[in-house]
Amino acid sequence: MNGIELKNVSYKYPLTDFFALKDINYTFEKGKFYGIIGPNSGGKTSLCNLVRGLIPHFYQGDLSGDVLIEGKDVRNWDSNLLSTKIGYIFQNPFTQISGVKDTVLEEIALGLENLGIEKNEMIERIIEVVKLLKIEDLIKKNPNNLSGGQRQRVAFASIIAMNNDILVIDEPTSQLDPESTSDVFEIIDMLKEQGKTIILVEHKVDLIAEYSDEVLVMNNGQIVDSGTPMEVFSNKALLELDVAMPQVALLGHDMNRLDKPFDYITITKSQAKEQIMKRMGCVNGRN
Ligand SMILES: Nc1ncnc2c1ncn2[C@@H]1O[C@H](COP(=O)(O)OP(=O)(O)OP(=O)(O)O)[C@@H](O)[C@H]1O
Ligand SMILES: [Mg+2]
Repeated sequence: MNGIELKNVSYKYPLTDFFALKDINYTFEKGKFYGIIGPNSGGKTSLCNLVRGLIPHFYQGDLSGDVLIEGKDVRNWDSNLLSTKIGYIFQNPFTQISGVKDTVLEEIALGLENLGIEKNEMIERIIEVVKLLKIEDLIKKNPNNLSGGQRQRVAFASIIAMNNDILVIDEPTSQLDPESTSDVFEIIDMLKEQGKTIILVEHKVDLIAEYSDEVLVMNNGQIVDSGTPMEVFSNKALLELDVAMPQVALLGHDMNRLDKPFDYITITKSQAKEQIMKRMGCVNGRN
């Protein structure tokens, strides 16, 4: 098994008397893009901490059940080895930058140095990633003087250069404007094309609907729903929980309430457009 398997997993942080994660059963398959959504304190970040091995290697507390990473129990993984396999991008790009390097170039090299990558390969990887993220004009700048969007790109560059198979990304766009946000989604989509497994926590559900293969909804430490974006956002019960829905899915649910349902609950703009056109008697957008 190449991915990450969670079987009957429950977890309590130290000195707390409640389960941050409750009876989690889920398999993350290699090469897929997973979107994790749900209300605040639902357990999204805790699930990230679990799949990247921070629970139990960094956070002690009470862990029960099986966490298998590539078939091997997380407790038996060496935590350094695990961090070369699973990359992590923080919510806040300002905390991602080390603060100890004077240029973006050195900042990107830092993670590779820590991995003990040989110099020529290091240079090759950096050149590749700098081109990929179109940050050629930033490499000589001081990372501390960059804007939020620029820092997030540098953070992505540092992580991508490490070439991890699995990327866990926790709300990467919360500090970003809409343009930088769509850039980030394009970068993540490109990583998926390269065969990486992506686990992304994100409140911007319209983009989750557009890009994810699978969506997980977390509430009160449990996975309360999962499936393709179409399956999840068609679930009317989620409207009662505090779970955000794509605007066009809300429209679809409204049409159901009005007893004028679309053929299905639309989750992307292009689907909504197609359904509205159909309703208006247009075929392929024409009369
Ligand atoms: N280090 C910690 N020690 C103790 N309790 C914690 C710790 N981290 C999180 N928790 C608690 O675990 C529960 C789940 O928190 P978590 O951060 O996983 O939720 P989340 O879905 O990521 O929330 P948000 O949307 O606010 O980021 C919360 O009740 C939180 O207070
Ligand atoms: Mg969180």
